Amino acid sequence: MHRNTGDQTMQQMWTEIDAYIDAHLIPEDPILLQTLKNTEDKGFPDHLAVAPNQGMLLQMLIQMNKCKRVLELGTFAAYSTMWLARALPDDGYILTIEGRDTHAALGQENIDRAKLPQTIDLKVGRAADVLKALPADFEPFDFVFIDADKQSYAEYLELSLNLSHSGTIIVLDNVIRAGEIINPDNHKPSIEGIRDMFAALQDHPRILSCTALQTVGSKGHDGFALAIVK
Ligand SMILES: C[S@@+](CC[C@H](N)C(=O)[O-])C[C@H]1O[C@@H](n2cnc3c(N)ncnc32)[C@H](O)[C@@H]1O
Repeated sequence: MHRNTGDQTMQQMWTEIDAYIDAHLIPEDPILLQTLKNTEDKGFPDHLAVAPNQGMLLQMLIQMNKCKRVLELGTFAAYSTMWLARALPDDGYILTIEGRDTHAALGQENIDRAKLPQTIDLKVGRAADVLKALPADFEPFDFVFIDADKQSYAEYLELSLNLSHSGTIIVLDNVIRAGEIINPDNHKPSIEGIRDMFAALQDHPRILSCTALQTVGSKGHDGFALAIVK
């Protein structure tokens, strides 16, 4: 939506408040810091990754539900992957999928450097193709974090449901897009994709409960959807 000076002032305040939250509630973690630094050193944009306080929310959702198997769509530099792994027991497993070779190489490098005890399996390819190629008896996931191309979110939801069990938690990131989802003039594939996802979630027979929350912070005005599988 249209940005003006007032929006910039608000953004500055949201960023400062996120810094305040992080300073108080998000412990410094050398592995997470190293991941961010390596990403910046290699010249990749930092805005693609979740904010630290969002990463902590993912970690807490996993801890609350004692999840062991996690699926992530959209690895980028594996910053969110580190948060997901941090929440798991040592024998936890993450399948993370990245479509862009350069991002996957960076993500793999960051995963290798972290030397975490959990198994982190980074697969390169279009997320939908990788998921469809998994064996039919693939053990279901306890937690799914969807953060790849927005135009495919409705498809990712269905594919994730095929790999879920009763109680699996599904988080879909960036579903508000500074309010563009309610801008009737915006027909970008990414925005239409999110609208399709909302329509798919509505009264879905395999969803026990779901919601979406708007957020503001260092990453602007956005939000996430949260669903529990029936
Ligand atoms: C927002 S970034 C992910 C950020 C990461 N989850 C984090 O918070 O640190 C989205 C990623 O999805 C990848 N992506 C886009 N389309 C994809 C697709 N069809 N299949 C797999 N990955 C895709 C992009 O290359 C990009 O690296």
